[in-house]
Amino acid sequence: MLQTITWTGTAARLLDQTRLPSETAYVDVVDERQMWDAIKRLVVRGAPAIGVAAAFGVYLGIKDATPDQFATRLDAVCEHLKTSRPTAVNLFWAIDRVRDVALRTGTAQAVLDESLRMLEEDNAVCRAIGDHGFKLLQELGGGSGGKAGLDGETPPLNVLTHCNAGGLATVRYGTALSPIYVGAERGARFHVFADETRPLLQGSRITAYELKQNGIPVTVICDNMAATVMRDGKVDAVIVGTDRVAANGDVANKIGTLNVAILAKHFGVPFLVAAPTSSIDLSLATGDQIPIEQRDGREVSEGMGRITAPPDVGIYNPAFDVTPADLVTAIITERGVVRPPYTEGLRAVMT
Ligand code: MRU
Repeated sequence: MLQTITWTGTAARLLDQTRLPSETAYVDVVDERQMWDAIKRLVVRGAPAIGVAAAFGVYLGIKDATPDQFATRLDAVCEHLKTSRPTAVNLFWAIDRVRDVALRTGTAQAVLDESLRMLEEDNAVCRAIGDHGFKLLQELGGGSGGKAGLDGETPPLNVLTHCNAGGLATVRYGTALSPIYVGAERGARFHVFADETRPLLQGSRITAYELKQNGIPVTVICDNMAATVMRDGKVDAVIVGTDRVAANGDVANKIGTLNVAILAKHFGVPFLVAAPTSSIDLSLATGDQIPIEQRDGREVSEGMGRITAPPDVGIYNPAFDVTPADLVTAIITERGVVRPPYTEGLRAVMT
């Protein structure tokens, strides 16, 4: 599995995800401004990964501050990094976590140590999501009935996913793809439909790439093909990640997730959301309060390296949408699976 973030001793080394799948290139980020830019441009992306990256960004921003400058610099760096992307609550969670450490200890070194701890923790959290998620898949036994792919004899379990919530969106294993990796290690067989995920193609560029690297059969479909594969009975379960879960179980994720959730409901396919507790935001009552990132229209009009819309037309480019809780079959956290009603279940998992 490729590592999205490593610490070299002087820099945060990021796998440059804007270049996948054609190039495996790394960028060494040595200051806070570079980290802001890397998060904004999606060099590093996916809610858990941007949280950990931002934590290193805080360290890089304060490491040379004199004791007199420390508190002011810390505030400025944290506030600036928080403006890089608004939707994934992990960014704010991670920055606040290292900021608390900095204020408590008064040292940059403690922030670096905490960032390194977060790298390790992320692996453990993703593994635990994989364990719980795989058990849930075994319980559901596949929407097409029986224990498809899960007993070593029946056909593979067909999972559809949207965007990339795999190892490349976290530090290593991923959230939505972790149950697949854990299941595969235990002998289960899977086949994944990866929605290509316009406009930036995280599904075809990144999910398909990492699944192939890890030996999981994958078929890329355009986003508008999800209805057809579900209608044809080719999907046993949908699993997606999330950038933020509100207290009532509404879920923000990559634009187009809502379409998939509506289709899953229509065709009777379980719709599962993998969410580390760092993505759960109990301070927001419903998904209506989740800030949705609006991105540059050129991602739509100049997609795929060429002009894909005439000049001077309106372009709308929200990066995320919100799926209402009533379309979500279950939320898989590292502390266990939460089922409706979500208000009680999420509160329990967060205490
Ligand atoms: O814009 P991106 O590529 O950062 O969007 C990523 C997603 O929407 C993921 O599904 C989400 O962050 C969860 S990653 C475990």
